[in-house]
Amino acid sequence: MPERLLEVRNLKTYFYLESGESVKAVDGISFDVEKGEGLGLVGESGCGKTTAALSLMRLLPSAGKIVEGKILFKGDDLVKKSEDEMRRIRWKHISMVFQGSMNALNPLIKVGDQIAEAIILHEHGISKKEALNRAAELLELVGIERRRVNNYPFEFSGGMKQRTVIAMALALNPELVIADEPTTALDVIVEAQILGLMRDLKEKLNLSLIMITHDLSIVSEVCNDVAVMYAGMICEYGDLREVYKNPLHPYTAALVRAYPSARGTRRRLYSLPGFPPDLINPPSGCRFHPRCTYATDVCRKEVPDIIDVGGGHYVACHLVRG
Ligand SMILES: Nc1ncnc2c1ncn2[C@@H]1O[C@H](COP(=O)(O)OP(=O)(O)OP(=O)(O)O)[C@@H](O)[C@H]1O
Ligand SMILES: [Mg+2]
Repeated sequence: MPERLLEVRNLKTYFYLESGESVKAVDGISFDVEKGEGLGLVGESGCGKTTAALSLMRLLPSAGKIVEGKILFKGDDLVKKSEDEMRRIRWKHISMVFQGSMNALNPLIKVGDQIAEAIILHEHGISKKEALNRAAELLELVGIERRRVNNYPFEFSGGMKQRTVIAMALALNPELVIADEPTTALDVIVEAQILGLMRDLKEKLNLSLIMITHDLSIVSEVCNDVAVMYAGMICEYGDLREVYKNPLHPYTAALVRAYPSARGTRRRLYSLPGFPPDLINPPSGCRFHPRCTYATDVCRKEVPDIIDVGGGHYVACHLVRG
């Protein structure tokens, strides 16, 4: 039996605006991550992926608040932890490669020093020398020669910078790493290399991964399960191959058509018309109904339950009966 590392149950995270309105960025999502396995969290821009990740890390901006739900990490609810307790969990047990972080490396500080600083910040009592040594080991782990610790970020290619921020996330040997759009700014060849690296690290370190992306095809390199998010909710969830082969939600089907193959051409073959909705006043009923060609009256009125259609394949759509 696989060991369950993370269980997220009915998680809701809202942003409270000065106007008094709230953005329902994450509105009742549930998923599991097993030890050593990968989950892809996939959806268009603005559907709440980063908010979900920052909720797991308990690193939300001040306007953001977890309003409901559980984040069980090895059975322990992170929602109930104090900031002090979270400081002992963050980076050591759960870490994150932040969206765009490869471009946030300090240009004036050597790569090795930046990794060492991150280690010193979280591992009290470690000497600078030990931390630098560990930084060199971490660079090697992600496929960069140790001697490059003395380089500045401008001497690194985009792929090497991305490897560096992955190394930083691994610095304290976490069990779960959340990677938020880790390949977005990279060309197709470098993207494939980074995905290969993530797959190798996952195997070698028995890591659990949550990989966030808008591109359904790239998660197949690294993940066994997928959760498709639309407007703050999960519309389809299950084994990645099964969902890819047999997408039941019209939104997932559109994503599959938009990003058809992991190894084939990466032309966008199809583009779903319209935009994701405003999450201050999301549409009634199924949030996807304004863009769905199959929508009927019930879709406009009732929020569909997420149901198991068999074999752990879940879908929230009125057109699909269990
Ligand atoms: N600090 C904030 N204050 C108010 N609203 C926010 C804040 N951060 C995010 N949001 C809103 O929450 C919703 C979800 O945003 P989030 O960044 O989680 O989406 P995402 O799926 O990660 O998108 P992307 O693919 O563009 O990174 C959006 O409507 C966004 O405008
Ligand atoms: Mg994001």
